[in-house]
Amino acid sequence: MNVIFEFSGKVALVTGAASGVGRATAKAFAKAGAQVAVADLNRQAGEDVAEQIRTEGGVAEFFHVDVGDEASVAALVASVVERFGGLDFAHNNAGIEGAHVPVDQVSQDDWQRVMDVDLSSVFYCMKSQIPEMAKRGGGAIVNTASASGLIGGYQLASYTAAKHGVVGLTRAAAADCARHGIRVNALCPGPIDTAFIAQMPQAMRERLMFGVPMRRLGTAEEMALPVLWLCSDAASYVTRHALSVDGGVVSSSPVTFMEDLAGA
Ligand SMILES: NC(=O)c1ccc[n+]([C@@H]2O[C@H](COP(=O)([O-])OP(=O)(O)OC[C@H]3O[C@@H](n4cnc5c(N)ncnc54)[C@H](O)[C@@H]3O)[C@@H](O)[C@H]2O)c1
Repeated sequence: MNVIFEFSGKVALVTGAASGVGRATAKAFAKAGAQVAVADLNRQAGEDVAEQIRTEGGVAEFFHVDVGDEASVAALVASVVERFGGLDFAHNNAGIEGAHVPVDQVSQDDWQRVMDVDLSSVFYCMKSQIPEMAKRGGGAIVNTASASGLIGGYQLASYTAAKHGVVGLTRAAAADCARHGIRVNALCPGPIDTAFIAQMPQAMRERLMFGVPMRRLGTAEEMALPVLWLCSDAASYVTRHALSVDGGVVSSSPVTFMEDLAGA
């Protein structure tokens, strides 16, 4: 794909950057000239991503974080600002899925962990990031939600509730931040070919395709470019938006599903 962004002199923080969508976004920011903070719970994989970026001529450093822990997130943002001198862009992207069970079988532990990692994390991140961006006169935040942030997921109650929360939190924050010159948007991916999908039960992965009019999984790179676009001046009047990048999942009608069942 021949899309060029220019972020020289900018600082970008990406959470969940050791794998999948976050790794692709971190690499794309670096390719565009930004200094990149690669943040993740997985130390080894995160160090490897930062090293790959440096090998390819970019500027990147790994930061260990548990996004479900407010103190850890506050320490992360403070360290990034200390290392790079400020913060311009944040992709709050780390996430987990939780158990695939009907809502009445969701355990309290599963519910709480998904809420911590997928929803409270975004609150903790923005709480620390907004004052730093305001000091620079503005910035852009992209929170990874999901198609499950816009429509109801099957046997995914905790995840669906958390991702709907991310969309709502994004809209609330965008309203609060506009006066600081900070734009806040959400990315709502459909099924993307990452470790996240690979660990799903086989039947669930096959069923996912029924709802995709484009009949394929998205790639992590296809998520990264919309994130960079949302951070760029090309999107200077875009805020409070939940952007579906999903091969048509959210807007597809049940007719698609019926055709597939008939083997059409
Ligand atoms: N893959 C998909 O189909 C899909 C669809 C919709 C939304 N999403 C969302 O996209 C985001 C990225 O998912 P992905 O597909 O790249 O998954 P992935 O599993 O490849 O990557 C997730 C990353 O988050 C990190 N992480 C997990 N818990 C963390 C924590 N507590 N603190 C810090 N880092 C943590 C993991 O170590 C991993 O590197 C998630 O928020 C996910 O909900 C993914």
